[in-house]
Amino acid sequence: MRASLRHGDRVIGYLDTGVCGGSPSKGTLVLLHAFPLAADMWQPQLAAVPPGWRIIAPDLRGFGRSSPGSQTGPPSMDDYAEDVVVLLDHLALERAVIGGLSMGGYAAFAVLRSAPARVAALVLADTRAEADDETAKLGRDAMADTLARGGAAAVFERMAPNLLGTSTQASRPDVVETVRTLVLAQPVDGIRGAIHRLKSRRDSSGLLAAIACPTLVIVGKEDRITGVEVAQAMHRRIPGSQCAVIDRAGHLSNLEQPEAFNEALTAFLTTLSAGSRQ
Ligand code: MLT
Repeated sequence: MRASLRHGDRVIGYLDTGVCGGSPSKGTLVLLHAFPLAADMWQPQLAAVPPGWRIIAPDLRGFGRSSPGSQTGPPSMDDYAEDVVVLLDHLALERAVIGGLSMGGYAAFAVLRSAPARVAALVLADTRAEADDETAKLGRDAMADTLARGGAAAVFERMAPNLLGTSTQASRPDVVETVRTLVLAQPVDGIRGAIHRLKSRRDSSGLLAAIACPTLVIVGKEDRITGVEVAQAMHRRIPGSQCAVIDRAGHLSNLEQPEAFNEALTAFLTTLSAGSRQ
């Protein structure tokens, strides 16, 4: 179901499956979306919730049904982390599995940094721990120019060749269309704020060796934005983590190969619920 909460001058919209088939609840998974998409990118996961689990997918600030609100300081990845904690408080959830894809992964790292006690486990999909280097920062400036000149449609055109894998681009026009529709629906303000947050995000590499919660790293084999080597290097630095490489998927692995993505996710969640309630 779609739901929302009001926090100060902002609305946070989110998708919530409730607890699916089985009781008591085994745990809650919060899924954080990529740039420049919204919670709806997680529809294939929301449609296949493992029994006893609840999945919540918020629209990050300025995307989907979440308003940007009035920004007091410079936009930061910590804004997204704050909203995740506000949502957990609202739903009276002490802890949850926090998962994010790409920008959502950067936000998951920000939650881990600001509220580690709320993180029962991590799912890091098609994402990296490193901050932007100088070249990437120049790319953000160019993206901001593209947005200013052509809006969300121009951003999609610029990103499309890298957002989706070659297999999807060649044989899944439906997935390309889903992504295009989702990107074009995003407000320019939200995209602009996200570009600032991506560019200014902190380096999380220093956190990796100290991650003590169960962690699953997922990456599409054809991901040209993150890259399999980057994901595998991150996995090797996180003690006890697992890594799943998804065939015939690019950067948006959850949308491109939902069955394989869901299989990896469910296997991971099952190991958690076999241990203890999250
Ligand atoms: C994303 O998919 O969220 C973005 O590609 C992340 C990035 O550009 O660093």
